[in-house]
Amino acid sequence: MNAPDIKTARAAAVAATVDRIRAIEQAQGVTRPALDAIKAELLALAAQQHLFPSTTFPPPEGGRKGANRYLLQEDADNRFALYMNALNPGNETKPHDHTTWAVVVAVDGQELNKVYRRTDDHSRPDRAEIVVDHEIMVEPGRGIALMPDDIHSIHTTGQVPTRHLHMYGLALEVLDNRRGFDNGEIKLYNRNFMAPAVAPRD
Ligand SMILES: [Fe+2]
Repeated sequence: MNAPDIKTARAAAVAATVDRIRAIEQAQGVTRPALDAIKAELLALAAQQHLFPSTTFPPPEGGRKGANRYLLQEDADNRFALYMNALNPGNETKPHDHTTWAVVVAVDGQELNKVYRRTDDHSRPDRAEIVVDHEIMVEPGRGIALMPDDIHSIHTTGQVPTRHLHMYGLALEVLDNRRGFDNGEIKLYNRNFMAPAVAPRD
C-alpha cells in the first residue's frame, strides 16, 4: 500500500473505531468495564501496524527527550480525542492524572506504566503523598485504562521507540486542571510538563 492509501485506510479505521467507542461510553458511561471494552477496540486498531508506520510517526529527532504527540482524530466538541505518542527509549513523565478517562495501547515499543495511590489525607490542595500501587507494561497486545482520578507515570524502558495510541474522553489541550505530582508537590500538569501536539508526517 502506498502512503496516500495508508493515510486513507488509517482515517477510516480510526473513524470506525471511535464510532464504536462513542457508543460504548454512551451505553455504559465511564466505568472500568466500559474502559476495558474501549481498550479492546483500541487494541484491535493498534494491531493493524501497517496503518501506523514509523516514517509517519517518528519520535523526537536525534534521540531527544520528550514526546512527539500526533493528533489522529477528535470530535468537534473536543471529546474522544485520539493521539499517537512517539517517544524514544529512556523517557519518563512525572506522575499525573487526566481529569478525563484515558486508554493507552501499543503499536510498537514498551512503556512501563506505574499506577499510584495517595497515602495522605487530601487535606492540602498543594501537597500529596503517593506510592506505586502496581505496574503495567504497555506493549503490543497489552494496554492500560485509567479513570479520571487515576494517577500514573510512563517510562519508556524498551529498546525501540514507542508508537502508542492514547485516547482521552476529552482532548488534552482543553484540560486545564490536570495535576502533576512532583516530589510531594501538586503542580498543574499541562502548564508545567505537557508539550503541544504535532502533525503526522504524511
Ligand atoms: Fe498520562
